[in-house]
Amino acid sequence: MSTISTPRPPASPAVPPAVPPAVPPAVPPAVPPAVPPAPPAPPTPETPAPEAGAVPTRSRRTVLLGGGAGLLVLAAGGTLWRAADQGVFATGEGPAYAAWGDGAGTPGGGTLNLVRAAILAANAHDSQPWLFRVTPTGITLHADLRRNLGAIDPLLREMYLSLGCALENLTLAAAPHGYVHGLTLLPNPRDPTHVATLTLHRGAAPVSPLYAAIPRRHTNRGAYDTARPLSAALRARLQALNTVADIGIVWYTSSTAKQAFSALTMRATAAFIADRPQSVDDFGWWRGDWQDLQRRKDGVTIDTAGLSAPTRVLGKMLPPESRASNDQAWLTSTRDPQLTTAAAFGVIVARNPRDNRQRLDAGRLWQRMHLWATTQGLAMQPLNQTVERAEREQAAGLTREIATGLSALMPEGGWRPLMPFRIGYPTTEGFKSPRRPATDVTTMV
Ligand SMILES: Cc1cc2nc3c(=O)[nH]c(=O)nc-3n(C[C@H](O)[C@H](O)[C@H](O)COP(=O)(O)O)c2cc1C
Repeated sequence: MSTISTPRPPASPAVPPAVPPAVPPAVPPAVPPAVPPAPPAPPTPETPAPEAGAVPTRSRRTVLLGGGAGLLVLAAGGTLWRAADQGVFATGEGPAYAAWGDGAGTPGGGTLNLVRAAILAANAHDSQPWLFRVTPTGITLHADLRRNLGAIDPLLREMYLSLGCALENLTLAAAPHGYVHGLTLLPNPRDPTHVATLTLHRGAAPVSPLYAAIPRRHTNRGAYDTARPLSAALRARLQALNTVADIGIVWYTSSTAKQAFSALTMRATAAFIADRPQSVDDFGWWRGDWQDLQRRKDGVTIDTAGLSAPTRVLGKMLPPESRASNDQAWLTSTRDPQLTTAAAFGVIVARNPRDNRQRLDAGRLWQRMHLWATTQGLAMQPLNQTVERAEREQAAGLTREIATGLSALMPEGGWRPLMPFRIGYPTTEGFKSPRRPATDVTTMV
């Protein structure tokens, strides 16, 4: 059953007050981070300062001016070459994006077709922390700890949320490919990286309308239409997608509530970029170079940053950004357009955010909500800075500044935050992000 909860002051609720789950479950004991410390995120060297170009001497310049027409041709050629090299004319194309074309599966692809849909799921920083094993009886899903986000995700909350998103796509894809499925979450208590076992047998089952939205769903970080609020009816439809008593959705729709959410998110973003380990681990997943992203097939790109078309082209043409300028650009775009244009904010909450099962359920809910929103022409974007910061404060023994602010935004009844987000009607297209192909992350057993 879904939970509609409203924030405590200063939020003034736009939806009815908190409805407790019909069957109040016993809160399971806190699950400590259930996996061993993971290696740091794949390193990306910080962008070296661009080399100072040689300043032409007077005589050399004279020679160049003498061949002015040739120079113009050269300059135009160089610009065009740079544009082509950095994918200005190839947004969403190339090997890093081929998986989106495979999303519907290939004839005779068998159960691997389900993995092809699973890897198109939302996932934190496009880190794709998943591994699949295709067995004669089904598919098992495993966490890939090598792709951990380090100081951004010290308690592995986002990793399990991401795996939940993949799991949702995996199950949605069973029926359209002619399978009936059974699902067991966390089947091995001694191995928390074994996230799920999906059993499959041939048979007919109803196909969800969400399946067709899988290749069309993209995180949209651009401006949303400030003239179009999110109706209470649509919020209720999103709410109804939740089927788990331990999970709920809190909405922030009044201007007071939105301001409180925005102010805390800005404070968290500023604290995040001022914290070197968080900033470095974040930058490690930034793919500012087109050739690099085509090789790695992961990470956050210029195309998906929600920029206007001219800024996006310029961003691709210029030399790669430094970590500091990248941080500043994130801070600026968080304020405007992301916070200022949201129709509403929400947080997926849980009874116990350390429970990996609840994290998986919340990830499944996020993916379901985003797919359904896609079918309605709505845009969505997670905004995790506050929770990332609260967890960093806890893990590093820092003053609980953002954690305290976040608690004040939570409804009564013991709900804790798992996944903050914004939602609204898009004004710009959300572009594809890279993906490693299914075959790269699957072992056939
Ligand atoms: C657990 C989780 C946390 C995320 N946190 C953020 C976030 O804080 N900010 C953001 O812009 N996107 C966030 N995202 C979106 C991912 O960056 C995005 O899903 C990924 O880059 C792949 O892009 P796609 O969703 O367009 O396929 C998050 C996604 C997940 C599943």
